[in-house]
Amino acid sequence: MIKIPRGTQDILPDQSRKWRYIETKLDELMELYNYKEIRTPIFESTDLFARGVGDSTDVVQKEMYTFKDKGDRSITLRPEGTAAVVRSYIENKMQGDPNQPIKLYYNGPMFRYERKQKGRYRQFNQFGVEAIGAEDPSIDAEVLAMVMHIYESFGLKHLKLVINSVGDFDSRKEYNEALIKHFEPVIDTFCSDCQSRLYTNPMRILDCKVDRDKEAVKTAPRITEYLNEESKAYYEQVKSYLDELGIPYVEDPNLVRGLDYYTHTAFELMIDSPDYDGAITTLCGGGRYNGLLELLDGPKQTGIGFALSIERLLLALEEEGIEIEDEDHLDLFIVTMGEKADRYAVKLLNDLRHHGIKADKDYLKRKIKGQMKQANRVGAEYTIVIGDQELEDGNINIKHMESGESEAIQLTDLVSYFEEKKAK
Ligand code: HAM
Repeated sequence: MIKIPRGTQDILPDQSRKWRYIETKLDELMELYNYKEIRTPIFESTDLFARGVGDSTDVVQKEMYTFKDKGDRSITLRPEGTAAVVRSYIENKMQGDPNQPIKLYYNGPMFRYERKQKGRYRQFNQFGVEAIGAEDPSIDAEVLAMVMHIYESFGLKHLKLVINSVGDFDSRKEYNEALIKHFEPVIDTFCSDCQSRLYTNPMRILDCKVDRDKEAVKTAPRITEYLNEESKAYYEQVKSYLDELGIPYVEDPNLVRGLDYYTHTAFELMIDSPDYDGAITTLCGGGRYNGLLELLDGPKQTGIGFALSIERLLLALEEEGIEIEDEDHLDLFIVTMGEKADRYAVKLLNDLRHHGIKADKDYLKRKIKGQMKQANRVGAEYTIVIGDQELEDGNINIKHMESGESEAIQLTDLVSYFEEKKAK
């Protein structure tokens, strides 16, 4: 038997309704913040991620689904959305639009060859936001406020917003040098990943899962000590906006994020419930990327954004016991007796559906009792029974399933019966 690939999942109709609910709510929230949807391809040139996300990152080194297409081009299934959105901004010359910053959001599958774990998949669905074309602490604060608003609007409470500033390029350069100096004497005792990161990406040593409890990590220099005046001032302003908005946060100078493009503001939203026993605690992550556009041969513009996976949002909802309204609902189930009535029901259903009435019937020649059970299973609000008699005199009883009450109406009035109900 052919099985589903490791790290992927089928979203069956029961779940899919929850997804749709979440996605609709996210769309509505985006309207409040004036962000517009963008859809980019599922695959891009490998170069985009190698340059954009960074050659030395785990995502690029270990996790990309990369292949040659029939034209011998190196293609990669997108592991994240930011690089592609920035590519599109540049390619479509969005910098020429006076309506800066361009506020965009996206929602779609991403692919990373990661070890499978609860909340970690090889195909997962990211909802993300990018505001490109403004460098102002108020937009950083807006993006952070939006993250909190999203999670709170689903009723989640046990959340911890962790923020940091990774500084501008000059601050980072100095900091990286200090880290290299600090780790060089002890790097032999670190994992092979950290050893190869020392000169290419020393900040990543700080959040290595293997070495994070080592003394040298705890005593490492802190980015906060290396932020230049400009970076410090930017960070302070972002924090003052958060204070003003009443958004609680904790600062973690070791929060460096796994992708290379970040400058200044970096953040993650974590599950903060004391008895959560899942391995994954990060629900969402993002930050500012001031050099990314230029790195991709674009204009001197900056951006900020975040992404969350719907899978982890669902996990958090489950963890906090929050149910999503996902009841099946059908306006009408038609119970038929005999072949003539069943034929009639086909036409009647067609008519009802064209009038916006959600309706269905039996297809397995069930007995009346079985059809009634089926009506209950599919969540029908009303049922009618049609047999030879009803066809002949045109009188039917429409039964409200929950109350058990029936009303006598004309078969020909069925559509207007529902239309009047809906109009109320
Ligand atoms: P990221 O931290 O790599 O950032 O991913 C963002 C979020 O995607 C994570 O917090 C998590 O919810 C989800 N995620 C990542 N990998 C997986 C996985 N294997 N399975 C399930 N969920 C996953 C980015 O991707 C950046 N592009 C975010 C960003 C946007 N920064 C600025 N703009």
